Amino acid sequence: MTDASSTPAIPVTIHRSDYRAPDWSIPDIALDFALGIDATKVGAALSVVRQADAPVPLLLRGDGLTPAAVRVDGEVWNGWRMDGSDLIVDLGERNAATVEVDTVIDPASNTQLSGLYASGGLLCTQCEAEGFRRITFHPDRPDVLSRYKVRMQGDKAAFPILLSNGNCVDQGEEGSDHWALWEDPWPKPSYLFALVAGDLVVNKDSFTTMSGREVELGIWVRGGDQDRTGHAMQALKDSMAWDERVYGREYDLDLFNIVAVSDFNMGAMENKGLNIFNTRYILADPDTATDVDYDGVEGVVAHEYFHNWSGNRVTCRDWFQLSLKEGFTVFRDQNFSADMGSPPVKRIEDVRLLRAAQFPEDAGPLAHPIRPDSFQEISNFYTATIYNKGAEIIRMMATMVGPERFRNGTDLYFDRHDGEAATCEDFVKAIEDGAGIDLGQFRRWYEQAGTPRLKLSLAEEGGVWSLNIVQTVPPTPGQPGKQPMMMPLRLAAFAMDGSSDALADTLVTVTGATQRIALGKFAARPALSVNRGFSAPIIVDFERGPGELAWLAAHDDDPFARYEALQQLMLDTLVAAVSGKTGDHQAVIEAVGQTLTGAASDPAFVAEAVLLPSEAFIGDQMVTVDPDAIRRERLALQAAIGAALETKWRAILAGSAPPATDLSSKAKGGRRLRGVALAYLAATGAGDAPALAFRIFSDADGMTERQAALATLAHGDSDERVAALDIFYQRYRDNPLVLDKWFQVQAWSLRDDTVDAVKALAQHPDFTLANPNRVRSLYGALTGNQAAFHQADGAGYRLIADLVIALDPKNPQTSAKMIPPLGRWKRFDEGRQALMKAELERILAQPGLSRDVTEQASKSLLG
Ligand code: BES
Ligand code: ZN
Repeated sequence: MTDASSTPAIPVTIHRSDYRAPDWSIPDIALDFALGIDATKVGAALSVVRQADAPVPLLLRGDGLTPAAVRVDGEVWNGWRMDGSDLIVDLGERNAATVEVDTVIDPASNTQLSGLYASGGLLCTQCEAEGFRRITFHPDRPDVLSRYKVRMQGDKAAFPILLSNGNCVDQGEEGSDHWALWEDPWPKPSYLFALVAGDLVVNKDSFTTMSGREVELGIWVRGGDQDRTGHAMQALKDSMAWDERVYGREYDLDLFNIVAVSDFNMGAMENKGLNIFNTRYILADPDTATDVDYDGVEGVVAHEYFHNWSGNRVTCRDWFQLSLKEGFTVFRDQNFSADMGSPPVKRIEDVRLLRAAQFPEDAGPLAHPIRPDSFQEISNFYTATIYNKGAEIIRMMATMVGPERFRNGTDLYFDRHDGEAATCEDFVKAIEDGAGIDLGQFRRWYEQAGTPRLKLSLAEEGGVWSLNIVQTVPPTPGQPGKQPMMMPLRLAAFAMDGSSDALADTLVTVTGATQRIALGKFAARPALSVNRGFSAPIIVDFERGPGELAWLAAHDDDPFARYEALQQLMLDTLVAAVSGKTGDHQAVIEAVGQTLTGAASDPAFVAEAVLLPSEAFIGDQMVTVDPDAIRRERLALQAAIGAALETKWRAILAGSAPPATDLSSKAKGGRRLRGVALAYLAATGAGDAPALAFRIFSDADGMTERQAALATLAHGDSDERVAALDIFYQRYRDNPLVLDKWFQVQAWSLRDDTVDAVKALAQHPDFTLANPNRVRSLYGALTGNQAAFHQADGAGYRLIADLVIALDPKNPQTSAKMIPPLGRWKRFDEGRQALMKAELERILAQPGLSRDVTEQASKSLLG
């Protein structure tokens, strides 16, 4: 059950403008853990120093804790009281003191997976954002930085491995117990504290830093999983080298440990010197992990490692500054992954994610600036806006000043704020000062929510062409009027018939609500290549005929722009078809055919480019989303492309797949293209498609091919489908990460009985609400399946609302993450609107709802 303490009757809103520096600092903390799965004793000794000018009590936040004893400077102390779940210690006139508080917690019953919890016999912590207060009383705010000494003791058989932040400085035995003392020399906020105790095996390696220091690396997993840690280890070493080379940042401890746990709310956590990961971002081998999984491991390992500087050495002053560490670190991991693989393909993937997850957020009831002004529950603000739009804002600064000046800016940022808790403003100022750019207007990106739109038109005067730009930023909740944004816009212009010179890649800065840009002389209307590389995270409205788009898809010298042109061509066709006009399949078929034969093309790029836009993205282009028409027309276009280019798809599939152990970009691209080819072929309804898919499924030497074939079969209604699902289940039933895929492909299915299938799968003996990965693999996949989730009778909505209600008492963080899809009601017809709102109301009517779910559901209902 949720603690009463975390379910306030009236939601409290925290405002950024209310920030005040802490009254007390805590230079040193000593923690003493007597470990037990269902009772862990925690002794905390905080050395506190008053910062306020006048005497003030010490406020220590708690969540579900009761103080067993309080001592001040070694004496039993009665000058304390509880204020709700918090502890207030009256220290009289003291300027400094040592405050000791003892508590007892029960990790086994901690189903929220925040604080100290048990995951399959293992004890581990998750403290960001406000989990430390579930372990011991503490201010638990990121601007209170302390040096930690951690002693832990426990039964040697139950907890053979004892880990915490920093270095192990001493250890010993006491009967059947053993203990370890860890010290972290770097002052850190409480959210970066971590402890792990349990039976783990390690993959050890080492890294020599640029100054020649030897760092011991360890990846800790359950026995039997160590052979699946090689890719994560390589990613870690690559990340360490990359951060030295690209940002001049060296690792700063002698030890770097990663632990993988099965039950984890998020992907991974950057605790100082002891990252804790969801197993899904550590474990990978060709038999169980797809190429997407491999890339996920590499990207997340890098992300958490990069936080050592962007997040840990320089941390956040308060949680409103979250994008300071997350947006910047996502930008860093994106560039790392681009450097490790194919930069254009990585950019396409990142933009696709931004459009799938962030644009809808920015257009809906939960829209917020990358630096929010208020929140009720911070866990609800780990959003695509903070992360992915936040990364785009950093990217724009980097684009405007270029790599060298950007590096000057980041050097200044790290030097200026090392060891501090900084703000987004500190970052922008450092880039301004270090890179030499005025970011006055640019700061609006931190203040204004909503995706800017540029409406473009071309004009000609005396043979000279120019581009007219009209910029608008839509209203969002609480922000009815907006100012124009500053943004870098990369463009080029081509004479399609070669009669004039092209305007080569040009970077312009857009600042105004209206702006005119000279393109130069062209004998006829040029083909404009605009927002190349997606230089700004905006929506471009620009009417271009199929001829121009097809030409750009074939000839633009920027691969991202080629991708965009083909996507726009597909989108225009689909939107026309869905709106009852005739969608011109032929232009798309020709462009796809041309892209497939594009001589020098990299298969990974081709696979991305020929993929149809998602149902959700098609819906985003419409005034009122019609999920059934979108599915119908998208499948029709897919079938038409499948049939018209059938020989090409068959030729791709006739070759053999690159060996699953080959993880080069080329091999990954080859496998991805085969998956796309199979999907197109199956869409035609070709009689032999199920047999072919089944053969690929059976012959596959790795999970990428196997899963792609299974997913294709899962859409259909063949005997092969039933057989493959059964074979897959029997083979992988003991591997939780692979079993997640089995649930996921069924929830992704385009069959019209998918909602019922999900309902049935929720009753499967292997389904559990206790594991967030399992919940996401079934219900998260359903919300991503647009036509199923939006089934007209509301069964999809009901299923999600039932889940939110059932999961909330166990795990409010993960439960609240399922709500945003229900909040998109404004985009749908009246019937669906009513059904969606009714489910939000039903959720809100539940007694004892968490703060997490209350905030998300009530804001979503407002629209
Ligand atoms: N600091 C977060 C993890 C986190 C966030 C833990 C909120 C608890 C509450 C971590 O650095 C992170 O951002 N992880 C991402 C993956 C990353 C590659 C974007 C995640 O967990 O999804
Ligand atoms: Zn992060």
